Amino acid sequence: MTRIISLLNFKGGVGKTTSTHSIGAALTSFGKKVLLIDLDPQGTLTFFSTDQKITASSMELLFHKLPMNECIIEGEEFDLIGSNIKLATSELELNGHYGKEFRLKNALGENKYDYILIDCPPSLSVFTLNALTASTDLIIPCECELASLEGLDLLLSTLQSPIKQLNSTLNILGILPTKLDSRKNISKEVYEILQTEHKDKIFPPIRINSKLSELGIEKMSILKYDKNSNGAKDYLKVAELIVNG
Ligand SMILES: Nc1ncnc2c1ncn2[C@@H]1O[C@H](COP(=O)(O)OP(=O)(O)OP(=O)(O)O)[C@@H](O)[C@H]1O
Ligand SMILES: [Mg+2]
Repeated sequence: MTRIISLLNFKGGVGKTTSTHSIGAALTSFGKKVLLIDLDPQGTLTFFSTDQKITASSMELLFHKLPMNECIIEGEEFDLIGSNIKLATSELELNGHYGKEFRLKNALGENKYDYILIDCPPSLSVFTLNALTASTDLIIPCECELASLEGLDLLLSTLQSPIKQLNSTLNILGILPTKLDSRKNISKEVYEILQTEHKDKIFPPIRINSKLSELGIEKMSILKYDKNSNGAKDYLKVAELIVNG
């Protein structure tokens, strides 16, 4: 069975897209067949992944205009269903559809993938609700900084109701501490608090790494770009846990 994992946090810039891209590549390195779906109208995941112009995107998928297979761009490391700015203008229209939260789930039919990773926008939009509904699991990237702690509690309580109503078997796989800066005490302290408060649900941290901030330049994953970087090492550990856990 395909595991469908959404990377979600309503806060912006916490590493959702970097994590989707890097975990996707790391899962591939463990021999898994991986599809990434960009559900963010900003299209950052798409920008990180390909130079190709996106003609069939996650918008066509959500509106059931094209079958899943026709929206996929095949890649060397993983396949992609991209997004572009048209997705933003479609939000209002999608909100008017019956069963609007089930559009993605219904569009993802039988497929060849071991893992589908979904990159969500930083809000509780109709796109995020579609991701929640279609997923088997959730990863919550959380930046190691003070403001994130309050945001995380709010996120977890806000998610309770949509999970209950739309997808009661959804599994919160874990919180992924991102951008850990070992030179800053506050960053280390926040990581320790996350570890204490979410003992059983915490992934090993992703350290601040300049190579990760260069994704998109070469349109390749951190594993291809620099397999010895801390970024590559950290995301490999996370993927190993996902595969074995
Ligand atoms: N571990 C890291 N080390 C250094 N830079 C990072 C790391 N993780 C992410 N970044 C950088 O932080 C910025 C935000 O990351 P990213 O785009 O992955 O976050 P996001 O949560 O998807 O943002 P948005 O909410 O806008 O979609 C980017 O410039 C990215 O390159
Ligand atoms: Mg993003």
